[in-house]
Parts: sequence; structure tokens; C-alpha cells
Amino acid sequence: MKTFLRIVAGLVAVGVIALLAFIFVPVQRTEPTEALAADWEPAEGQGEYVLNASDCVACHTSDDGESLAGGRAIASPMGTIWSTNITPDSETGIGDWTFAEFRAAMIDGLEPDGTHLYPAMPYENYRLMTEEDLRALYEYIMTEVEPVSNEVPETELSFPFNLRFGIRAWNWLALTHGPGFTPADVSELQQRGQYLVEGPGHCAACHSPRNTFMAQDGVTADEDSFLAGGVIDGWNAPALRGEGTDLSQWSVGELAAYLATGRNAHSTANGEMGLVVEHSLQKLTDEDNLAMAAFLKGIDGDAVDLPESFAAASGALEVPGADSAGEATTTMLASADPDMPLGARLYMDNCVGCHFATGKGAPEIFPELQGNSLVVGSETMPLISVILNGAEVPSTAKRPMALRMQGYADRMSDDEVAELATWLRGAWGNEASPVSAADVAAVREADHGH
Ligand code: HEC
Ligand code: HEC
Ligand code: HEC
Repeated sequence: MKTFLRIVAGLVAVGVIALLAFIFVPVQRTEPTEALAADWEPAEGQGEYVLNASDCVACHTSDDGESLAGGRAIASPMGTIWSTNITPDSETGIGDWTFAEFRAAMIDGLEPDGTHLYPAMPYENYRLMTEEDLRALYEYIMTEVEPVSNEVPETELSFPFNLRFGIRAWNWLALTHGPGFTPADVSELQQRGQYLVEGPGHCAACHSPRNTFMAQDGVTADEDSFLAGGVIDGWNAPALRGEGTDLSQWSVGELAAYLATGRNAHSTANGEMGLVVEHSLQKLTDEDNLAMAAFLKGIDGDAVDLPESFAAASGALEVPGADSAGEATTTMLASADPDMPLGARLYMDNCVGCHFATGKGAPEIFPELQGNSLVVGSETMPLISVILNGAEVPSTAKRPMALRMQGYADRMSDDEVAELATWLRGAWGNEASPVSAADVAAVREADHGH
């Protein structure tokens, strides 16, 4: 409810300033800070690498459409926004755009005629990209991507959000950083990681909270709220910094393995994060995934222990025993006490074979449920959905085996799923709020709608 009120307040505020903006705020166009030499040319493969690192394909490709030809519906609190065709087709794509025009879209969210783009296009983050990377990306799109003729639906939001000039004021409030990249005072490897995370990777678009104006609260590493955790489409995008987070428990190598393969000894990447791994991060070099991991682990100023190599990073894959926080639950499950709560019994009957009585699973095969951010998150939909529908981690080049868990929708009632989920959120030292049968019914209903 609080979130809802905040969104409404934000929307009203945006509407009011939209009008003022039209009158007072000029269109913001940013000039390059670093001009490239006239004979500058991208390195072999640079443009395609930048495209992968910045995941343009994810939003600019529809489910059954051609790559980058647009037409994907992007849900926003203001309504559906359609991504555009960014293949070099001159009629329906960006074939006629100059580099300066392309740059303005990436940095200031502007179309060539000065029309403002909605910030569903993450120019808040892309504006931190280097001039070299932007140029390499532009040349790759213009010369290597097949032009596709595809007219995408016109985005039609309701009043006042259909008035795109209002974004001018929003930009004025939100674009307080950049353009260009400002490295923090850390190692060169960590600076590379910082660049990938802040700029092309646009991790803050999901992992930073949003402020009243729905702008990212924390876009660069010098802000405390940067990557402090956000919510996207009913999923927690967990905090990637601070005490008590999963990341504070993971080694640099384990974190790099999660990014590169969508799995590590503790957890698996589902939902939007599974897609980020599948379309973007698995295509990056090991060094770059290590660089991001090293940057994230050092973000609060802690010293970072680098593994000798990426391969050494995964470590020994022994099945771990229970720790002190998980001991009571583990002992209770092992005792097979007939007075166990219903949730624990359901776990014994259905889940223990893979996730074990310790709740620790098996490294890189069955994820740990103790302290798992999907299990204990403030958003309960993802946990309910995994129990009902199962889940699958995609195969990646480095870990070609897909990991699949079956769903239990046909085998458990709403009450049982609620009991099980509530129990999981309190087992092995987990401390999260209960789940009700109504919560489960709502997820089932939403699944039927799809
Ligand atoms: C999170 C989703 C998302 C990602 C990632 C994304 N875009 Fe976009 N982009 C959009 C949406 C949505 C629009 C349309 C916005 C509007 O209609 O105001 C857009 C618009 C654009 C436009 C303006 C095109 C036109 O015809 O007006 C360009 C150029 C563009 N994107 C390029 C890129 C490039 C290059 C990348 C990768 C570096 C990228 N986008 C990544 C969502 C995204
Ligand atoms: C489109 C939204 C989105 C983007 C962009 C995104 N993430 Fe995520 N991320 C998520 C969600 C949602 C989860 C939770 C997945 C789950 O519960 O299985 C997640 C989980 C994670 C986790 C595991 C956290 C934990 O506590 O278990 C890490 C690490 C992570 N993301 C890193 C990154 C990095 C680094 C980037 C940028 C390169 C990034 N993410 C970009 C949405 C996103
Ligand atoms: C046959 C083995 C198997 C059984 C039985 C099983 N799981 Fe899983 N579970 C997996 C695998 C493999 C994954 C990783 C798939 C993924 O996350 O996409 C997984 C993922 C999960 C996740 C998501 C964890 C994360 O980090 O994203 C949760 C929560 C979960 N299981 C809970 C349960 C519960 C509760 C039960 C019993 C009702 C259960 N599992 C039964 C194999 C199993």
C-alpha cells in the first residue's frame, strides 16, 4: 500500500512538473567530453561485445521477432511502452541516424527531432558509457546488423504521460551524473568492473531502489543507495552490497561464477536475472565477470581476495554440512518427529532429496535454501511460483547442463503451499514474514491469465 501511494504521489508530481517543464526547462543535449580522433576505429569485435555487455537485444527483440527489430512490450507503472526497431532499416529502424543522433538517444534519451524517449530505455545508465564504446556499438549496428523492416506499435500512454515533453523535467531531476565514466579509487580490475556494472550492464536499473519520481536512487558507485536492492515485476532484485546480503557471504570467485553461469555453490539465477545471464553475462570474458565480482565485493571499501584464476574460483564441490544457524532445523528434520509442523513434513516428503535436511543443497546443482534471497525476499511471488511451477536455469557455454526443478501445482493445495513457504521462510535461521493461502491463490490465478 505504501509503495502504491508513493507511486501515485510520484505520478501526480511528475504530471505537475511536466507542465512547468514545458515552459521553463530547455532540452538538454550533452556534448561529448572526449572527442575521438578523426581516424579512430573500433577494435576487432568491440561493437558486438559492447552490444552483449549492454544487453540491447533483451528489450529490443520481441518473443518471436528478429534480433533488434523491436516490438517488445515493456511494462512500466505508467502503462505499456513498446521498444523500437534499432536495426539499420531506413524506413522503420535507425538506418538514417548519424552517430551524433544515436549518441543523443543513448546519453540524453532524445530522438533526432528532439522528442524525449521514456526512461524505460535505460539512458540513465548508458550515459556513463565511454565515447569509444558508443562509437563501436553504433558502427556495429550500422554495418553488421541486418536491416529488418518492422513497424512497431506506437506507445500510447494515458494523460499526462503521453506528453513526452514532461520527461524534460524528469531528466533534469534524474540525470545528475555523467555523461562519461568516473572511475573510483580502486584497482584497475575493479574499475573495469565498475564500468561494466554502472554503464553497459545497467545493473542499477533493477538493483537500485527507485525514488519518488521513479528514477533510479543510486546510479553510480559514489552513492550509498547504489545497488541497495530494488523490486522489478514482483521480484526482489536483491541488494548487491552491505551486511547480511548473500553477496557478503560469497567469495569473489563464487560471485563471478554466478554471473557467468547463472549458478554457484549457493544460488541460481531465475526470472529477469536468468535472462541477463543467458543473453548478456555468459557472453563476456572470464576476466570481465571476475572484474565485476571484484568491484561488487569491494564496493563498501572491504579488501578483496582475488582467486588465482577463474577455474580455481569455483572451489571444491563438497556437500556442506549444517552450520550453527541451521542446526536446529536440520536436527528436527532428521528426527522425523511425527509432531513436526505441516510445512516441515511437506519439505521431507517433497524437497529433502535435492535440497537436503541442511537446506544447503548441493553446490552448483541444487541451490541452498538457507538465507536464499528468493526464499526470504519481501516479494513472495517468486518463491510461490517456483514451488507451483518449478524453475529452470538455462544452460550456458561453461555449464551446458540445464538445471530443472519440477512444479508442485497439481500436488499441493493453496494451504499446503502456504504452509511449506511459510516454514521455509523461518527454517535454518531464515526470518521472513509468513505466506497465506490467498497469496498462493493469487499467483495461481495470475498464471492462468498468461
Ligand atoms: C530495459 C530495456 C531496454 C534496453 C536494455 C535497451 N533499450 Fe533502447 N529503448 C527501450 C525502449 C522501451 C525504447 C522506446 C522508448 C520510447 O518509446 O520512448 C527504446 C528506444 C531506443 C532508441 C530510440 C529509437 C527510436 O526509433 O526512437 C534507441 C536508438 C535505442 N533504444 C538503442 C538502444 C541500444 C543501442 C541499446 C543497448 C545498448 C538499448 N537501446 C537497450 C528499451 C531498452
Ligand atoms: C532486468 C533486471 C535486472 C538486471 C538488469 C540485473 N539484475 Fe541481477 N537480479 C535481478 C533479479 C530479479 C534477481 C533475483 C533472481 C533470483 O531470485 O533468482 C537478481 C539477482 C542477482 C544476483 C544474486 C543476488 C542474491 O542475493 O542472490 C546477483 C549477484 C546479480 N543479480 C547481479 C547483477 C549484476 C552484476 C547485474 C548487471 C551486470 C545485474 N544483476 C543486472 C534482476 C536484474
Ligand atoms: C529433483 C530435485 C529437486 C526437488 C525434489 C526440489 N527441487 Fe527445488 N530446485 C532444484 C533445482 C535443480 C533448482 C534450480 C533451478 C532454478 O533455480 O531455476 C531448484 C530451485 C529451487 C528454488 C529457487 C532457488 C534459487 O536460488 O533461485 C527454490 C526456492 C526451491 N527449489 C524450493 C524447493 C522446494 C520447496 C521443493 C519441494 C516442494 C523443491 N525445491 C524440490 C531441484 C529440486
